Amino acid sequence: LVENPTFFGALQALRLKGARLASVAVGPRHVEPASLRDRILAHGPRMVYLTPTHHNPTGAVMPETARSEIARLAQEFGTPVIEDCTLADMELDGKAPKPIAAFASGGGVVSIGSLSKLFWSSLRIGWIRASVPAIAQLARVKTADDLGSPLLTQTIASQLLTMVREARAIRRDQLRGRRDLLMQLLRKHFPEWTFSSPAGGVFLWVDIGGRDSRRFSQVASRLGVALTPGSMFAADDSFSDFLRIPFLLEEEQLRAGTVRLREAWDEFCSAAVETARPMTIV
Ligand SMILES: Cc1ncc(COP(=O)(O)O)c(C=O)c1O
Repeated sequence: LVENPTFFGALQALRLKGARLASVAVGPRHVEPASLRDRILAHGPRMVYLTPTHHNPTGAVMPETARSEIARLAQEFGTPVIEDCTLADMELDGKAPKPIAAFASGGGVVSIGSLSKLFWSSLRIGWIRASVPAIAQLARVKTADDLGSPLLTQTIASQLLTMVREARAIRRDQLRGRRDLLMQLLRKHFPEWTFSSPAGGVFLWVDIGGRDSRRFSQVASRLGVALTPGSMFAADDSFSDFLRIPFLLEEEQLRAGTVRLREAWDEFCSAAVETARPMTIV
């Protein structure tokens, strides 16, 4: 059982393992525990995958009360909840609630995360917090799967872990300015698009007003702006009119990228008008 929308890497990994996916909607207050309960009852899932803090792609943050209710659901149904904390360090406004695992007793909630957002993405080092037996089992599976992560990157990661506090502060200052700039640029160049300001994470989740974001992202890519269309995050065939736009780049690149994106939009809209013209038979 996954959120809809959700991180496309999780969708791909689960589909690759042959999972049949059921989904629960993510709204402005993230997943509603009552809806999650209904979906668990309807589908009897083997596991639930959630990204409660700075959800990818919407940026939603699950309130603390929902977290404690979901920890209770994991226990009541014996359904493991995997909470992905990868973007939890990317706090830009205020402080996010505690993880779901903080409300769970027993081993029903497994937390996972990565160092890639705080430090750099090619590090490829992540972490798992789970019960001792679950960790032992996962270590056996991982060893069989990839013979273990390289010692060099693990050593680098263990050094970086001593600097998490400083890294968070640096990323926060950097990303807050970039988020605000991107929002300002999009409001100026794309008054027809709508989005809200995320309290954290690294993306804006943008409603492009009923247009096909997959086709638009192809036009943008030809002009050198690579973006991920909303349908990539869908557990079904929804969100085709959403676009995920990251604010990771430096300010100059964000400015230049937005200008190119506007050019791509003009080209896309005029082509759409072209193809939408009624056919004349002569
Ligand atoms: C929610 C979530 N989980 C996992 C990942 C993967 O992280 P990594 O870059 O370490 O593979 C990402 C990357 O964007 C993510 O957003």
